[in-house]
Amino acid sequence: MDKLVVTGGGRLTGEVVISGAKNAALPILCACLLSAEPLKLTNVPELNDIGTMLKLLAQMGVKVEREGENVTLDASGLNNPLAPYELVKTMRASILVLGPLVARCGEARVSLPGGCAIGARPVDQHIKGLQSMGAEVGVEHGYVVAKVGRLKGARLFTDMVTVTGTENLMMAACLADGETVIENAAREPEVVDLAQCLISMGAQISGAGTDLIRIRGVEKLHGASHRIMPDRIETGTFLCAAAITGGDIRLLGTSTGYLDAVVDKLLDAGCEITGEKTAKHECIHIIAPPRLKAVSIRTAPYPAFPTDMQAQFMAINAVADGTAIIRETIFENRFMHAVEMQRLGADIKIDGNTAVMKGVEKLQGATVMATDLRASASLVVAGLVAEGETHVERIYHLDRGYANIEAKLNALGANIRREKA
Ligand code: EPZ
Repeated sequence: MDKLVVTGGGRLTGEVVISGAKNAALPILCACLLSAEPLKLTNVPELNDIGTMLKLLAQMGVKVEREGENVTLDASGLNNPLAPYELVKTMRASILVLGPLVARCGEARVSLPGGCAIGARPVDQHIKGLQSMGAEVGVEHGYVVAKVGRLKGARLFTDMVTVTGTENLMMAACLADGETVIENAAREPEVVDLAQCLISMGAQISGAGTDLIRIRGVEKLHGASHRIMPDRIETGTFLCAAAITGGDIRLLGTSTGYLDAVVDKLLDAGCEITGEKTAKHECIHIIAPPRLKAVSIRTAPYPAFPTDMQAQFMAINAVADGTAIIRETIFENRFMHAVEMQRLGADIKIDGNTAVMKGVEKLQGATVMATDLRASASLVVAGLVAEGETHVERIYHLDRGYANIEAKLNALGANIRREKA
């Protein structure tokens, strides 16, 4: 298993290009299942999770052509509505094939994703929604097994805001008979990007980005082309890397529009952040002070502060001036990076879903272990300012969601090398 060796050092300066959004690309790849005509995608990030999803689609009979960030998917030969455990266990987002398969094929067998480091992550809302649309859905030998003639439009209400639950049900509803209304829908920008792709395929959707989405089912969807939106969590992660090092960087191909809650907190911490438009790019310019002020955060569904940025803010608060309170309200076990940061010298006290942090002057490099995707990123961010070397182990977690993070950070002046552990 690889590890990253991060040598703490100076401020980050220069420009970085932000890749396409993992959490928009994953549902949009699955949208190809809804049509017998090709879906052409650009700005698809080159990540391990994307590779896993393409493998999953290919074993269902989807023709996959990939050239760098351009992917063409042709599901005209879809003949195997099965998502096997061997692939699903490596990537929970595989559950996103369930809705499209039931809608297109009238049946699906999708392995239950199982829990992951940050929580149990059940998919009961996905199942409940499909049942409300007339599908017979059960769990047999660890697989979700669904069967239906044709889904029927229904009024759906999810018990909690669920991003992939909203996405699965929105995709399923595109081919249902009649109108579906999803109440308490997730408002994340990735849901909107998926809706825009589906609409370009001929779906009739309104309200994406609000908590009430209406979908009028159609007989079939046609092919389309779509460019994946920029990754707002990669954007936030690089903003934090600049902020913690007192840096001055430009992030190209992204905008502050998807990250108001995160930008507000970085402004409170003392950073200057401006959105800029050049001939080629939308971009963000951040200039950070020599030392940040501590900022408290509370995670919640979009547009509030994203849970996927909580770990990165634990890193910047570790060396900020003052005390910060971090509340995690989405996942029940998303503080595992805290104990790793304590190994670097961070002053963090955990009490249930609340962390109380007191910023220290300096962190010391140490060997730490990545436990999940965003936790890994936060340990790299902390390592940028820790004294000496920080060895971040098990970085396969990192490679799932960040394309060449060490190359991008080194181009900004960081000192990171990848080693076989
Ligand atoms: C999506 O996960 C993202 N993944 C996650 O990003 C992100 O952290 C999360 O949304 C919250 O924003 C993708 O989009 C691929 P949820 P998802 O359903 O959809 C509970 C990353 O780092 N719940 O919105 O799985 C659930 O347990 C990843 O890129 C149920 O109880 O999250 C959680 O407590 C990590 N039953 C809460 O709802 C259900 O049927 C929100 O989960 C569904 C969800």
